[in-house]
Amino acid sequence: MYTTELDKNRAPDPAAPEDPALLAAFEARVAADEFIEPKDWMPQAYRRTLTRQISQHAHSEIVGMLPEGNWLTRAPSLKRKAILLAKIQDEGGHGLYLYCAAETLGTSREEMIEALHAGRAKYSTIFNYPTLNWADIGAIGWLVDGAAIMNQVPLQRTSYGPYARAMVRICKEESFHQRQGYDLLLAMVRGTPEQKAMAQDALNRWWWPSLMMFGPPDDNSPNSAQSIRWRIKRETNDELRQKFVDATVPQAQLLGLTLPDPDLKWNEARGSYDYGAINWDEFYAVVRGEGPVARERMRARRKAWDDGAWVREAAAAYEAKQAANRAAA
Ligand SMILES: [Fe+2]
Ligand SMILES: [Fe+2]
Repeated sequence: MYTTELDKNRAPDPAAPEDPALLAAFEARVAADEFIEPKDWMPQAYRRTLTRQISQHAHSEIVGMLPEGNWLTRAPSLKRKAILLAKIQDEGGHGLYLYCAAETLGTSREEMIEALHAGRAKYSTIFNYPTLNWADIGAIGWLVDGAAIMNQVPLQRTSYGPYARAMVRICKEESFHQRQGYDLLLAMVRGTPEQKAMAQDALNRWWWPSLMMFGPPDDNSPNSAQSIRWRIKRETNDELRQKFVDATVPQAQLLGLTLPDPDLKWNEARGSYDYGAINWDEFYAVVRGEGPVARERMRARRKAWDDGAWVREAAAAYEAKQAANRAAA
């Protein structure tokens, strides 16, 4: 619905200096918690940051469909299969809302997809880890969608209007995703000892990568201050990570599972849990594209794009025919 604005919004020369009066007016609007809309003036750095952030977010939604899609044919019951199918379809929808929101900033969806497939664009590091057993589907819903919610709830008030509005609906669906993952694990921990062991194994593998989803620590996150000043972000990476740990520990206790962190303990003075050191070398290696299944994911994504070419061609042919009919009428 926003694509007709593309030509008008085509980004101006990024090297051109910003007009100080326009910049001051923009900063005042952001400080007053007004939404910035596609046709409004905005600094080039704001447009670039948002284009990168929203498109990475969109890529994460659609790449995230791949590890779960692998398990659709192996779901243990019709009920679980229907739930998983609905969740994966939701993620495809999230990708669509987000590509639309990013397009309002002047980059076409085709350009964004091309950047993803060429390896120039990033997506969440978490999807470069393999899904080895059925309990992984529960752990992804509980932890990965849980971490996503923690990140996304404040984005409902991000300063760019189309992004904020997309997040409202996405957050509602993410909370269903989180609940279905937790429900799956609850069924497994109440099952046989082998099933409970599978749930523990999944938690052991997904816990640390989930904490990494919040991004690098604040003292190594150079764009954070600017993003907070422009109200693109409302909370820092470390603040969100801490909130996630505090919310998740009691949920793990209820499942009767152990979080794989010997340093995790309640800190009475802070009113929060302390947690152990995150392996940032692993995080940066995955960011560089060295994740355990990074190549496999990109191969699957490119294949899905190629296999879907006939659908895009058919839709375009249908649209052209409708337009011709309208013109003839
Ligand atoms: Fe999603
Ligand atoms: Fe989700």
